[in-house]
Parts: sequence; C-alpha cells; structure tokens
Amino acid sequence: MPRFLVLNGPNLNLLGRREPEIYGSTTLHELYQMCAQWGFALGAEVDAFQSNHEGEIIDRLHEARGTMDGIILNAGALTHYSYAIHDALVAVGIPTVEVHISNVKEREPWRTVSVVEAACVHTVYGRGIEGYRWALQHLAARLAGPFEIVRYGPDPQQVADLRVPEAPGPHRMVVLIHGGFWKNQWTRDLMDGLAVDLRSQGLATLNVEYRRLGSAGGWPNTALDVATAIDQIAEVQHADIDVSRVSVVGHSAGGLLALWAAGRHQLTDGPGADPRVSPALAVGLAPVSDMAFAQAHDLGDGAADAFLASAHEHTNLYRSSSPIDMLPLSTPQLIVHGSEDDAVPVSMSDGYVEAARILGDEVEFYRLESTDHMELIDPHSDAWRQTKEFLLANL
Ligand code: DQA
Repeated sequence: MPRFLVLNGPNLNLLGRREPEIYGSTTLHELYQMCAQWGFALGAEVDAFQSNHEGEIIDRLHEARGTMDGIILNAGALTHYSYAIHDALVAVGIPTVEVHISNVKEREPWRTVSVVEAACVHTVYGRGIEGYRWALQHLAARLAGPFEIVRYGPDPQQVADLRVPEAPGPHRMVVLIHGGFWKNQWTRDLMDGLAVDLRSQGLATLNVEYRRLGSAGGWPNTALDVATAIDQIAEVQHADIDVSRVSVVGHSAGGLLALWAAGRHQLTDGPGADPRVSPALAVGLAPVSDMAFAQAHDLGDGAADAFLASAHEHTNLYRSSSPIDMLPLSTPQLIVHGSEDDAVPVSMSDGYVEAARILGDEVEFYRLESTDHMELIDPHSDAWRQTKEFLLANL
C-alpha cells in the first residue's frame, strides 16, 4: 500500500481559526481526518506532520526517505524563502506536490514566488482544503503507471502528459482537456484519474495543459495551445498512435476547447484553421458550448468575458470561438451533463444539442439525473462509466 506524508509548515496549526476568510474554517485535525479518508479511497496510507520550525520540517523530510512514496507539502510562508527546504526535497528525491490553500498567485507579490516549486512534481493552489485531495489523487495517479511529459511550446504551461498502454499499437487516443473556467489554479491534474483509467482500458491519452487567464491565456492563445498539442500527436512517432482514431474529451471550460478543436477543420481562416489532426469523436462533459449564454449568465464569475477580452479580432468572434455558433461541427459528438450541475447549467447543453441536431450533427446526449458538475470527471462515478463505455464502443 503506498504511503503519503502530509507535511504542513508554520502557522498551519491554527487552521480554522487563522484568517478563515482566506484559509477556511476546517481545522488541522479535521484536515488530517479528511486526508486519511481521501487516502483510504485511493488505497493509500496517509501520515501527517506539522511544525512551525524549519529544521523540524527538514528532519521530517529526511525521515521520509525510504518510507514514503509521496509527499504533500504546504510549507506556509517558508515556501517563499526556504532554500533549505528546497534542498531537502532534492536530497530525499520523493515525488512531492506543493499545496497552498489560498490563491498565492493573486495575493501579495512576495507570495507569488515559491523557492520550493522547482523541487516539486506539481503545485496545487487556490482550491481551498480540497487542494490536498487533488494532490493526493495526483500522487496516486503518478504511481498508477508510466507517463511522459511532452512539450509543445516554450511556455512552461505548454505541456501534456502522454500515457501509452503496454500492449502493442497502433493505439486509439483520447485527448483530455481540463476545465476550471480557464483560471490559473485549475490544472490538468483534474483529469489524472480519467487518464489512468483510460490507459488501463487500452487507450492512449494526452492530458493537455494550456496557458490560462493571468498567464498569457485567453482567446485565441488558449485554444491555439490545445490545437498545437493535438496537431503534435502526428509527430509522436515512438508511441504508435492511430491519428485517425483520436477523440477529444473536455470538461466544463475545457469542453468548449474540445468542441472547438473538433469543429476547427471547418474554419476557413483565423486561429486554429487547417488542423493536422482532426478528432474523429468529441465528448463534452458539462461543456461550455455557448459563449453568449456564459456571458449572459456570468458563469464562472465573469470567466467568459475575461476569456474573450484578449481577442484581437472582434468580427465573427462567436463564429470562431463558441461551439454553438460554429455548428455544424461535422464531427460525431457525445454530450454528458448532470441535471444538478450548478457551475454550468444543463439548459446550456439542452440548447446546444437541439441546435446541433437541427443542423445535421450526429450527437448523443446523456442528460443525467441527480448528477453534478464534478462527478463527470470522477473515475469512480456512474457518469464516467457511461462515458468510457461510449468511448470504447465508438472510437
Ligand atoms: C499558504 C500561503 C502562504 O503564503 C502562507 O504564508 C501560508 C499558507 C496557503 O496554504 O495558502 O501560511 O501556504
């Protein structure tokens, strides 16, 4: 059974009482209980340690050598200046996920700097206490099988995780595009569980990161990143991918990018026209399929406005960026949406599917009762089981 260490630094003993408007009301003790449960669900054992002293944290890291399979580290303010912790992480060489409860990228400038980040395999921030759960899931996914990080551009965000099944190819491939309203704190670890699950079913996966709002993302850069990542599949020779059997699966705001990627072969000019790899199948999981709707309903707290604000070209903007305005996509699609979704209302998919069918697209629609937004990307959910079965049968 894998063992993970949850290591918290200075002032985190005061969780729940310390600036609850920033760090929430969960106490450290409650956090530990939650981590134990989250770990149990992943088949892992979780140990926990907190100290206000740099030296004690370093000692605990040293002790972890040979006993722990992964570490979750919230070093508190030490994050921003402790080179000694950086060096300890490098010295012990255990995969470590850096976690921050608050959105350190949107607070004081000194908090945006992390001197431990370079020694960590991933960073999760700005997701509240749940960030520890995502970090545990990421560690578990890393242990579940090999993957390769492929670069498709010079920016650190222009990367994707490539997972290839053990059996000989050529392999069908699923491109996964995460959601999070294109905001910085939501990264591709959201799709780790699905990637691991699909690989175990014999499908190759490419879990794409892209530039997001606040770091050169927005329209069209974010979409172009996804397009470039998909086009690059044609160049990954060693993985033996069947480029005629590529599906693109996007959740939420990533659903917009997936549907856009499946329809861009029809664009005559502008960003993303002329793809090298055209998806054979697109899956939108609670997708943002209609930008005008997203703007009118202020989904994701102004996310659609913020996303389109960087557009250089305003004529035909919806026609080139918003799936419902690009219809027909002329690519078969599956739309999955839960009736209890309070992030992207199911009525958006009702309208999208109706319009797509009228315009001649082949669209399957799973409108799931008693299902919310995040269940669609939970690898253990019934919603995902149905999505996966559809993929296996139709790709
Ligand atoms: C923190 C962010 C740090 O900047 C701060 O010093 C903390 C907590 C977080 O979890 O958001 O103590 O790591």
